Amino acid sequence: MGIKKTVSVLGLGRMGSALANALVGEGYEVTVWNRSGDKPTPAGTKRAATPQEAFKSDVVVTCLSTYDVQQPLLTNEIKTLVNLTSGTPEQARATAQWAKANGVEYVDGVIMAVPQQIGTASARILFSGNENHHVLQAFGEPVHLGEDAGLAALYDLALLGVMWSVFGGYLQALALVGSAGIAPGKFTPLATDWLATVTTFLPEMGAVTQSRNYETDVSALDINVSGLRLLTEANREQGLDTTVPQALHDLFERAQSNGHGAHSIASVIEEIRK
Ligand SMILES: NC(=O)c1ccc[n+]([C@@H]2O[C@H](COP(=O)([O-])OP(=O)(O)OC[C@H]3O[C@@H](n4cnc5c(N)ncnc54)[C@H](OP(=O)(O)O)[C@@H]3O)[C@@H](O)[C@H]2O)c1
Repeated sequence: MGIKKTVSVLGLGRMGSALANALVGEGYEVTVWNRSGDKPTPAGTKRAATPQEAFKSDVVVTCLSTYDVQQPLLTNEIKTLVNLTSGTPEQARATAQWAKANGVEYVDGVIMAVPQQIGTASARILFSGNENHHVLQAFGEPVHLGEDAGLAALYDLALLGVMWSVFGGYLQALALVGSAGIAPGKFTPLATDWLATVTTFLPEMGAVTQSRNYETDVSALDINVSGLRLLTEANREQGLDTTVPQALHDLFERAQSNGHGAHSIASVIEEIRK
């Protein structure tokens, strides 16, 4: 068996601490650095006083709040950078370019999990660019997406966008049924069943956005625009905020007025792509 690489983790927030713990659990020699001293040092790790001290490790894992706070810390003293800080695809590509120009081996990853899942098979770690996944296996199941370093961030934000849309719709629904005194516990089982049905439509919808043949015998955009108008009105009647249903209504209605009224909901993508 080869000697395990030494690893540093920059950032001891909720996620960074979980990453450091997982690395210790896998038998790595782990150094940690955090801007402020108030975060506890994970058991079994060594605390570095400066990022430079942490850069002596074979691999440096960054998990800071944003690229803006991360970028000023990075130097060419780093040998291999495993960047797990969330950002945009362009930020990831720029960091990959910076790494190339500075002789730093670079892996760009995103964590599709919460800290409590780190170190279990349920934590999916999407990564792109360099195919060598180094220490990612310690955190969960690494999935390589392709050579473009921006892909991990792209998938991350696309998937989170689906999640936030569901959460936004769910919270709006809770407020709406709550206006009639209905408790979340009563409504949620119906919502989760309904979501399971809704997700069965996604593969077909995805295929249609590629073929761009929006003929439908299921449900025309016209009827969905009417439905969104009713949803917005019902929320307004109850004195609730209408930002989410109104935004969806306006988007769908634009597609309708651009000739897609008789088409399937998938045709709304033509409006989004503009
Ligand atoms: N938590 C999750 O469920 C989750 C899931 C997937 C991905 N992520 C990603 O993981 C990253 C970290 O998230 P988190 O939940 O661990 O956040 P967090 O608990 O808020 O921790 C933020 C970390 O960033 C550091 N930081 C903030 N501003 C800084 C600055 N100006 N200079 C140096 N360090 C600075 C903080 O240091 P101080 O202690 O000094 O403030 C802390 O170590 C984010 O990019 C997030 O999107 C998180």
